[in-house]
Amino acid sequence: DDPRLVRIKESIRTIPDFPKAGILFRDVTTLLLDHKAFKDTIDIFVERYKHMKIDAVVGIEARGFIFGPPIALGIGAKFVPHRKPKKLPGPVVAEEYTLEYGTDRIEMHEGAVQSGERCLVVDDLIATGGTLAAGIRLIERVGAEVVECACLIELSELKGREKLMGKPLFVLVDFEGE
Ligand code: PRP
Ligand code: MG
Repeated sequence: DDPRLVRIKESIRTIPDFPKAGILFRDVTTLLLDHKAFKDTIDIFVERYKHMKIDAVVGIEARGFIFGPPIALGIGAKFVPHRKPKKLPGPVVAEEYTLEYGTDRIEMHEGAVQSGERCLVVDDLIATGGTLAAGIRLIERVGAEVVECACLIELSELKGREKLMGKPLFVLVDFEGE
């Protein structure tokens, strides 16, 4: 396995009982404080995707906005944000998704991704998979293709990757059972 992954995993801080009792919060802000771990993270994604003819890196608000843009710059693709409701000023397409309590929504500017384009969807973490699945639906709604989803962290016991409609998921770190 890639030796860089040890430092990457160790640089992610775990905070118990945030945002509520019983949740172990995986905090990527401590990875961002470690230049080598942050650089290695971006390098691994860039090495994987630079020859996969990706047209657009799609990042999901908020933490997908940290990792998506440097990957896009590194592979020579455009960056497209999927934003929380009512933040984008132009015409949008929207998708709802289910949270533990209630629903949320992400929006994308019309025309940001064009029919037939090859997209990589980036977020920091996959838990239940609801967020990434909404991102995939948004891209497919406009006739574009999701080549793969990429996350820094997977919580594999939640089986989120089964919700991705068969799209491949690439992750660097799994906290299964930890
Ligand atoms: C977190 C995380 C992922 C999502 C994963 O975002 O950054 O986007 O949850 O959960 P899921 O796989 O169960 O959908 P959150 O909505 O908490 O907000 P943020 O990124 O804006 O901080
Ligand atoms: Mg998020």
